[in-house]
Amino acid sequence: MVGQVLPLVRPALRGITPYATPTGRDRYRRLDANEGPPPAPGLLRELLVEAASRLSYYPEYTELRRLAAVHYGAPAGGIMPVCGADEGLRLVIGAFAGPGDRMVTVRPTFSMYTFYAQLAGAAVTAVTLAPDFELDLNAVLEAAGGAALVVLASPNNPTARPIRPGDLARLLQLAPERPILLDETYAEFCGQNFIPWIERFSNLIILRTLSKARGLPGLRCGFVVGHPAVISSLDTLRSPYNLTATAAWVGSAFLAGDTDFRERLAAATTARATLQRELARLGVPVWSSVTHFCVFYLGDAAGSAASALAEQGILVRLLGDDLSGFIRVSVTGPEDTAVFLSAFTPWLTQRRPEPIPAAWRLS
Ligand SMILES: Cc1ncc(COP(=O)(O)O)c(C=O)c1O
Repeated sequence: MVGQVLPLVRPALRGITPYATPTGRDRYRRLDANEGPPPAPGLLRELLVEAASRLSYYPEYTELRRLAAVHYGAPAGGIMPVCGADEGLRLVIGAFAGPGDRMVTVRPTFSMYTFYAQLAGAAVTAVTLAPDFELDLNAVLEAAGGAALVVLASPNNPTARPIRPGDLARLLQLAPERPILLDETYAEFCGQNFIPWIERFSNLIILRTLSKARGLPGLRCGFVVGHPAVISSLDTLRSPYNLTATAAWVGSAFLAGDTDFRERLAAATTARATLQRELARLGVPVWSSVTHFCVFYLGDAAGSAASALAEQGILVRLLGDDLSGFIRVSVTGPEDTAVFLSAFTPWLTQRRPEPIPAAWRLS
């Protein structure tokens, strides 16, 4: 029977490997998924008790939209709540790119951009970043000719570099009819905010989330921010109740009253700076970062380093094809950095450094 159904699945979906949601991470120190510094558990518990009484009714999003617009400085009507930035990516990419279209992004970057373009049946051009992980603007401008959509992250994941404002302005100006989706998932870590540009550039669409800087990835609460007319059109793609009542309630409360989140961010970025300084002192090539994570190069030994750390209860991200031999680590405070270094330093003394591959060699 199943043999009769399978050929009816859209051809674009057949060759795509489903996203493998990681499992069994609970017993580890999780430095592998860029989760941000968590809020105080007491505040969360209080909010969850209040949220419980809302579970017997369908959620409402008016207050969440209003508070998000105020918090992010977005135009009224310029916010669409989504189930994490991930859902925003799927909806926006699917809205602009379909079969016969082409989406432009960079490599290395967040793998879900290509994943959602493939789901939508669109082709992808991924422009390689410059060796210092900066955008190769001319190459992106050239690739963007005739493209349906450009998707960029700033700061980028995994490279932790922000976009240069001049580069973004050129991209937006050169083709005002072509949407640029700017994923600002990590923007708060470096104080970046391109949302005010939406007033000038109606082709700019921005993603925000409570997953990283707010430390609430399990809540699944994010926002697509754009020109009100664009948001109203994208709203047609949203399922009626795409966020749970818990996400809407707790998300609103955090946007309105999470007063110490900047201190948590500062602790995380300071811990990342300490980590970078120590790695550099140990002779490990480490790239600069404006967020709470950074990448460093170990070459062929990267896999054994990740395994050795896992044996000591620490998870790190071994990067794939685009950055093979690199490891990405995120920290939320000084304890993460200290625990990581106390496990990594003894491992490092047992091996010799490897030359950095030419593609990413810094001058
Ligand atoms: C660049 C980037 N965009 C989007 C996401 C997804 O975030 P969310 O948890 O809000 O879906 C991530 C998560 O790692 C990310 O790194």
